[in-house]
Amino acid sequence: MKTLKLDITKKNIELAGNIVKTGGLVAFPTETVYGLGANAMDEVAVGKIYKAKGRPSDNPMIIHIAKMEQLQLLCESFSETAKILMDIFWPGPITFVLKKKSSVPDITTGLLDTVAVRMPSDEIAVKLINSAGLPIAAPSANLSGSPSPTKAEDVLEDMMGRIDAVLMGGTCPVGIESTVVDVTKEVPVILRPGYITKEDIDKVVNIKAVFDESVFQNPKEPGFKPKSPGMKYKHYSPKADLKIVRGQDENLDKTIEILKEKYSNQGKSVGIIYYGDDNEKAARNFFSDLRKLDRENMDIIITSALKPKGLGFSVMNRMLKSAGYEVIDAEEVLNDCDS
Ligand code: TXA
Ligand code: MG
Repeated sequence: MKTLKLDITKKNIELAGNIVKTGGLVAFPTETVYGLGANAMDEVAVGKIYKAKGRPSDNPMIIHIAKMEQLQLLCESFSETAKILMDIFWPGPITFVLKKKSSVPDITTGLLDTVAVRMPSDEIAVKLINSAGLPIAAPSANLSGSPSPTKAEDVLEDMMGRIDAVLMGGTCPVGIESTVVDVTKEVPVILRPGYITKEDIDKVVNIKAVFDESVFQNPKEPGFKPKSPGMKYKHYSPKADLKIVRGQDENLDKTIEILKEKYSNQGKSVGIIYYGDDNEKAARNFFSDLRKLDRENMDIIITSALKPKGLGFSVMNRMLKSAGYEVIDAEEVLNDCDS
């Protein structure tokens, strides 16, 4: 299949909208990561997404809307808490899991009786949804298991020849995927941490949100059963082996240096990504840094852990998955070195 690279013009957005309307696949930028979009109500079109990504069919899609009216096509009703959260955070990087309407195809929701919906704020995403005139199902536009794409070139790397078109927008400003919150019960449950944090949510609703326990668990451990099916699959894996170093701030530089030397002496190429305490930068750059170092054929990537609060917690959730949940203790490395 030939994949069209579409520059952002009015005509091309109309063309992309038409491709979606007629059952094709279009990758497009959002404020979080690039999405791979199809008509959410068209089983055959959504089936093509699973195929293009190599995605397990029980992993449901997020449906993207541009106007509140479109929500009526997807869900029966929602709680007062859901309404407050939508009013405050939409359009934006947060997805709500709601009771689904039977008209939403089972393939779109992986047979669940709920549906995940997001109203993105990105201008190109909104124009595409409006041009198609229908809700767009869109997972991240990467091959299943690889880091989410935050640049058009990342999408092309994974999807060239597999989809109809890519809207060639710029770099996604947030850089990690949306927060996913289940609002079907009284207490909001965060299934996937993201740019909008628990702290942000707790400020605006009376009932405190909780994290689904799977957010803290390693999927490889027995008994792991996430409410969000996608959380159980291998994720965000660079080709290189990612090592996360955690410890006192003043010990990190030295530890990274020691580890770099150790791996280099083993004949391995080592790349370093370091964000200090800049969580925004870590979110924006983490996936694209993994892809960049993979293009440079690094064997090992070393990075430092973020403080597990707010956005730092959300990015650490991705870092841990990418590293297979192993963390190196800086103080241990320094002690070993001294002894
Ligand atoms: O920022 C984002 O959310 C991006 C952009 C393109 O919008 N999309 C994205 O989609 O990250 P994806 O498919 O890579 O991740 C969707 C997550 C998966 O973990 C999936 O299991 C979960 O949302 N999900 C979807 N529908 C669900 C549902 N009904 N109940 C629970 N989890 C659901
Ligand atoms: Mg994804």
